[in-house]
Amino acid sequence: MEVMDKGDDSSYSLRPQSLDEFIGQSASKENLRIRIEAARQRDQAIEHVLLVGPPGLGKTTLARIIANEIGSGFKSAIGPSIVKLELAALLTNLADKDIFFIDEIHRMNSMIQESLYPAMEDYKLDLPVGQGASADIIPVPLSHFTLVGATTREGLLTAPFRDRFGIRVHLDYYSVEEIVIALQRNSEILQIEVELAAQEEISRRSRGTMRIAKNLLLSVRDFATVRYEGKVDAEIACEALEFFQIDELGLNEQDRLYLRTLIERFNGRTGLRSLAIALNEDERTIEEVYESYLVKIGFISLTPHGRTAMNAAYHHLGYPPPKLFD
Ligand code: ADE
Repeated sequence: MEVMDKGDDSSYSLRPQSLDEFIGQSASKENLRIRIEAARQRDQAIEHVLLVGPPGLGKTTLARIIANEIGSGFKSAIGPSIVKLELAALLTNLADKDIFFIDEIHRMNSMIQESLYPAMEDYKLDLPVGQGASADIIPVPLSHFTLVGATTREGLLTAPFRDRFGIRVHLDYYSVEEIVIALQRNSEILQIEVELAAQEEISRRSRGTMRIAKNLLLSVRDFATVRYEGKVDAEIACEALEFFQIDELGLNEQDRLYLRTLIERFNGRTGLRSLAIALNEDERTIEEVYESYLVKIGFISLTPHGRTAMNAAYHHLGYPPPKLFD
């Protein structure tokens, strides 16, 4: 099974290690804090957790933090790459209270999903032994672990699976102020001098997403290292972000291509499939990476008649206002 490690060493060191260091998402954090503390007082594993939200908001980070806060082990896998035997090996190697993190859990094979039910509910795994008519099921006892699933698409989980997560946490886009706080901390760790106005500029263009903010900080740092002395003020940050083609709203070349295609080729409205073909992208990436933010800023609307470009998108790209749809 593919074992996951998003990000390199430097991004690992930028990761907060505790709930106190994790910025924003206060309702979710308080929810987790209570559940972790209660489990600690009872000396039990916490209930299974489902983390829901767009990519880049810190779901993996939060899963690691849960393990840190409990003081337990952490194992992880990516949903679609899990196959049955390896799942059995992983589950049987977990210790009590360990966190087993599955990313993209909505993309996990449905048979694997179902074999998780008895593991989640009764801490046992039904292992098939033998073939055909003589096949037998041997229940293997498991430790009292906690499954932490992460998904960008809660609606794609079946109801019985979703209901087996006792704790569900929804992460939302971050405010400019919250991202600035994270950028300050990251600049200190990386020992880059970034003025507050520059941090605000990077934050404004990060589309409310921590991962994007950290990546932009690293890009801006490199630009400042090569073109300037390394220190980053607002002017250098703007120049760098323009160089990397990130506009004032944080849209990149791909986002603008999406909008131009929707407006120019499809007169401002079309279905997901047509867009995916025109952009040569898979539908999931379009929905999760491009559209989720474009909807949030009111640039497109997902209507029963198709994806529809809104006035604000026409205005931002310098097109005349659209004709009205019937
Ligand atoms: N990295 C990912 N999510 C974070 C958060 N909420 N605060 C600080 N760093 C993060």
